[in-house]
Amino acid sequence: MAEDIRDKPVDALTATEARRELRLLAQEIETHDRLYYLAEQPTITDAAYDALRQRNSAIEARFPDAIRKDSPSLRVGAPVAAAQGFRKVRHAKPMLSLGNAFEASDVEEFEARVRRFLGLDADAPLALVAEAKIDGLSLSVRYENRDLVLAATRGDGEEGEDVTANVRTIADVPDRLPDDAPDILEVRGEVYLSRREFQRINQDRAAEAAPLYVNPRNAASGALRQLDAAITASRKLRFFAYSWGEASAPLAETQTAALARLGAFGFVINPLTETVVGAAGALKVYGKVEAARPSLDYDIDGVVYKVDRLDWQERLGQVARAPRWAVAHKFQAEQAETVLLDIDIQVGRTGALTPVARLKPVFVGGVTVANATLHNAYEIERKDIRKGDTVVIQRAGDVIPQVVRPILEKRPADAVAYVFPTRCPVCGSEATRGADADDKVTRCAGGLTCAAQKLERLKHFVSRNAFDIEGLGGKRVEELIERGVVTEPADFFMLERRAAAGALDIETWEGWGRASTTKLFDAIRARRTIGLDRFLYALGIRQVGEATARLLARHYGDLEALERAMAAANDPASEAFADLNAIDGIGVSVAADLTAFFHDPQNQTVLAHLTDILEIEPVAAPVATSSPIAGKSIVFTGTLEGMSRGEAKARAEALGAKVVGSVSKKTDIVVVGVDAGSKAKKAAELELTVWTEAEWLAVAAGDDA
Ligand code: IVH
Repeated sequence: MAEDIRDKPVDALTATEARRELRLLAQEIETHDRLYYLAEQPTITDAAYDALRQRNSAIEARFPDAIRKDSPSLRVGAPVAAAQGFRKVRHAKPMLSLGNAFEASDVEEFEARVRRFLGLDADAPLALVAEAKIDGLSLSVRYENRDLVLAATRGDGEEGEDVTANVRTIADVPDRLPDDAPDILEVRGEVYLSRREFQRINQDRAAEAAPLYVNPRNAASGALRQLDAAITASRKLRFFAYSWGEASAPLAETQTAALARLGAFGFVINPLTETVVGAAGALKVYGKVEAARPSLDYDIDGVVYKVDRLDWQERLGQVARAPRWAVAHKFQAEQAETVLLDIDIQVGRTGALTPVARLKPVFVGGVTVANATLHNAYEIERKDIRKGDTVVIQRAGDVIPQVVRPILEKRPADAVAYVFPTRCPVCGSEATRGADADDKVTRCAGGLTCAAQKLERLKHFVSRNAFDIEGLGGKRVEELIERGVVTEPADFFMLERRAAAGALDIETWEGWGRASTTKLFDAIRARRTIGLDRFLYALGIRQVGEATARLLARHYGDLEALERAMAAANDPASEAFADLNAIDGIGVSVAADLTAFFHDPQNQTVLAHLTDILEIEPVAAPVATSSPIAGKSIVFTGTLEGMSRGEAKARAEALGAKVVGSVSKKTDIVVVGVDAGSKAKKAAELELTVWTEAEWLAVAAGDDA
């Protein structure tokens, strides 16, 4: 096998490799997001997931020109849960997540980054606040005229769920703020359960033979999302405040003072919070908090460091999903040893064969673990994992555990290397490994003739971010297939008609019933009109996640145009193929998967049946922002005195401009600082628009709405 790009240090990547790696990372991370948030079936640990995101960010930092439109760093976490009964609410300001640090050097790098961005001298003190990272659920509580009016979960960061009634039962969340609090204030923090309360709840549940919660966080989530607030009230949820969203008046000048004010308003501030100087000070607190962790009565999973000065926080701003002024320094994932009893192969939607380790159950990271992912054939080989091995497994957060390595000293004498199947265990078709080093996945060649692929594709089709048909879970889809009622997506839309015509006695099936069937038919009918982006995503085309589906929908506008283009693009020498490849965010391999999908006669039939019954709505391209530099390309040259180069770049990008390194006739604006050299000269020669730093600062001060 060719050298594996994933193992290559970021520093050693060429620009071409970086682009390729960013593309792969975007796809991989999107897949894991989907598994985690939508299927609630993560296949990698938090730590492994963090490592992917971290690598993505590191490559983007080194190759900013290679940042993709569908970059994971431009997306916030979870899609909003479509839980019944909770109203969706839009946050006045988005709820961000945090970048991660794992090593001391990452924390030092955080400090260096902040200093560079702010243009601070090495000897200027940089105060940081170190706070315990509470392992609970983030919550935003809104006060208007000092009365609690709304409490919302984080959701996808933009939109969460209205859990006001439940939050009113939490003693740590005041109903009313004192007179000196701002007229409008959104207080943010973490809802959690003490370990003791978690145990008490589980004891009660055991007595009622109800399923137990695996850890305090899940129990807290269960308690917060009760439709009956009386149940929430009976489970003593607690709340630490550590941040805020909209505020009609500034709270303070520093994070330290702001926390003190929140404390004075009646919120609980975590007692492990400390104000320190620089990374060195932060790391001392990390050591202390880590030592205190076992004796705490609540779960924490790291320490968060935040720049203390709020005016600096403001200037630092955010990179898409995470603030530049804060970082989460995570604790090591918990590990344990157990025996690997067997390796099973699961077949997914795109035919990927995923090996799953069946383990002797072991308690780790707060839960009993019996299964762990082995990722792919390549990983099994690389780690040389064998049946019968004693293995180290690792589990962090809420994710399916991972097999880290075998313990060779404990290997049974008769253990043999695992032979990955060359045929699909479900349909018997040939299973082949990806042709190049980028593609480590073994795939079943059976396509829709493979029962596993068919089932997974149909499940995907109705899933939350696709057609989102409520009441059609995996089990029901399976039953519809088994009964021979559904064999392709269009069949879902025929169910009602066939039932009405008496050709289908769904209502008599066990567990379906009249009410639930009527509801299901309503849900299906409601989806006869669907946006092109969702539609494309729902098709389950390999490598086409939500972001790519959106890109395609925006580029081609409507399905007909897209189908025409895909047919033409089947010839790699065609203009249509070049056009497809030129879409920013789509590379050769996605293009190949796309054209192959649309070229396949089976898929063409599936599509034709769907277009007969559905109304597929075109998607409009996004409107540009209204800033004077939106869509312009801008070059900074010379020394800027008002802000660092990094800050200028970030600001220009926030205003919709593209910052480029060299001057050409395509450049729109050249901002000339002190001692500008050849670039300023070239700008003059090309008669480009040249701005002084003062002119730039005037634009930079504008609103980025
Ligand atoms: S600050 C912009 N501070 O960690 C501010 N978050 O991994 C973003 N969390 O979504 C959050 N303890 O749910 C912050 N002291 C703390 C925290 C904390 C726990 C959670 C929070 C956030 C997640 C990010």
